[in-house]
Amino acid sequence: MGTPRAAATGVIGLQWGDEGKGKIIDLLAPDFAATVRFNGGANAGHSVVIDGVRHATHLVPSGIFHPATLAVIGNGCVVDGDQLVRELDALAGKGLDVSGLRLSDRAHLVLPYHKAEDALREDAMTGGQSGRAIGTTKRGIGPAYADKATRSTSIRVGDLLRPERLERRLRRVTQMKKSMFGALGAATPLDNEAFDADAILRNCAALADRLAPYITDTTYLIHDLLNEGKPVLIEGANATLLDVDHGTYPFVTSSNSSALGIAAGTGIPPRSIGDVIGVFKAYCTRVGAGPFPTELDNPLGARIRERGNEFGTTTGRPRRCGWLDLVALRYACMVNGVSRLAIMLLDVLAGFEALNLCTAYKTASGTTDRFTPDADALEGVTPVYEEMPGFGEELTGVTSRADLPANAVQYIDRIAEFVGVPIEIVSVGPDRVQTIMD
Ligand code: IMP
Repeated sequence: MGTPRAAATGVIGLQWGDEGKGKIIDLLAPDFAATVRFNGGANAGHSVVIDGVRHATHLVPSGIFHPATLAVIGNGCVVDGDQLVRELDALAGKGLDVSGLRLSDRAHLVLPYHKAEDALREDAMTGGQSGRAIGTTKRGIGPAYADKATRSTSIRVGDLLRPERLERRLRRVTQMKKSMFGALGAATPLDNEAFDADAILRNCAALADRLAPYITDTTYLIHDLLNEGKPVLIEGANATLLDVDHGTYPFVTSSNSSALGIAAGTGIPPRSIGDVIGVFKAYCTRVGAGPFPTELDNPLGARIRERGNEFGTTTGRPRRCGWLDLVALRYACMVNGVSRLAIMLLDVLAGFEALNLCTAYKTASGTTDRFTPDADALEGVTPVYEEMPGFGEELTGVTSRADLPANAVQYIDRIAEFVGVPIEIVSVGPDRVQTIMD
């Protein structure tokens, strides 16, 4: 009776996103019956390189690249239907079989007015007295989650299949939103089309036709798999330091993007979540605003950006780059209960004379090795570095640990020792084959 213990494995980003989770999920997916997204929406950007061809998805789970594995968008996600259809068309156009997609009827819809509201709020914060803009992806994520919490103005995926109820709700919601955001729109004119109930309803009817075959109760679907003894792989989006409760608030996303969100966002009970694989880059990056203690706003940072091609998958924005922050990484391992680590993009660090690892913060009240997720407090810390020798050799062709340069081994051993979790996967390039798992 009940689901077997530890039947779900999580793959979670440990920094500020873009760690390379998509690649790890793609590698592991063939061993699982399903890959399941539990949070976020089209703000995420996962890229997978197969036989030299790069595939980018935002909403479709990375498991889609394996026809025998279901790709599930769980109830905790917020779904931009137009974006989802665009991704499905693009994948199908490349000859991929997308019939394994499943979409929770209880996920919430991101509608045009959410994206308009996201942009209006960001514009209102920029240059305002009240502080800085968050630097969101403007994909409507925050406003859609706010509506979910507010309840009176939310629309769920399942509503697409109930056109009468959908029409009733949408007419009321668009009217309310338009008058509420008229005030913000005084500075930036309201995009009336984004609040036009008739236009949205027409589009929703098309989306309903297109998405109906995929919409289902994904909680029962997942439990049925678990009861049959079939394991599922949980695909984190965004990352731990962007978690709305445990990240660098308020410069975070609007969902629980650490492993703590898995249960609520999928219906999988916590005791069935076993292994949590933590994915991190060999250095740190961040897009959008917010504190970043080890940021290198100098030629070294620019070199990491160039070597790592650190430009956003979703927005194309250049990513801020810096040294690896072990204080933050150990905190992320702690809150996620990480059991194994995957270090990504180690190849990017080749050629640096020396590498710095941040092992503590200096604060006004002394030195600490504890992370603070409060943005203001984190803004005020100064990193304390431990210098490691660099490695000159390029790593992109290395296929086993034994062939890694001694200084690269020393670098990853020091990280594992500091955070107290073994590093089992070392990635040295974007392709599936550029992964050391021995
Ligand atoms: P939002 O999720 O669009 O509201 O953006 C909030 C913050 O999270 C911004 O700083 C974004 O740049 C950041 N963010 C959201 N999703 C991702 C991601 O998948 N990778 C990196 N940053 C992200």
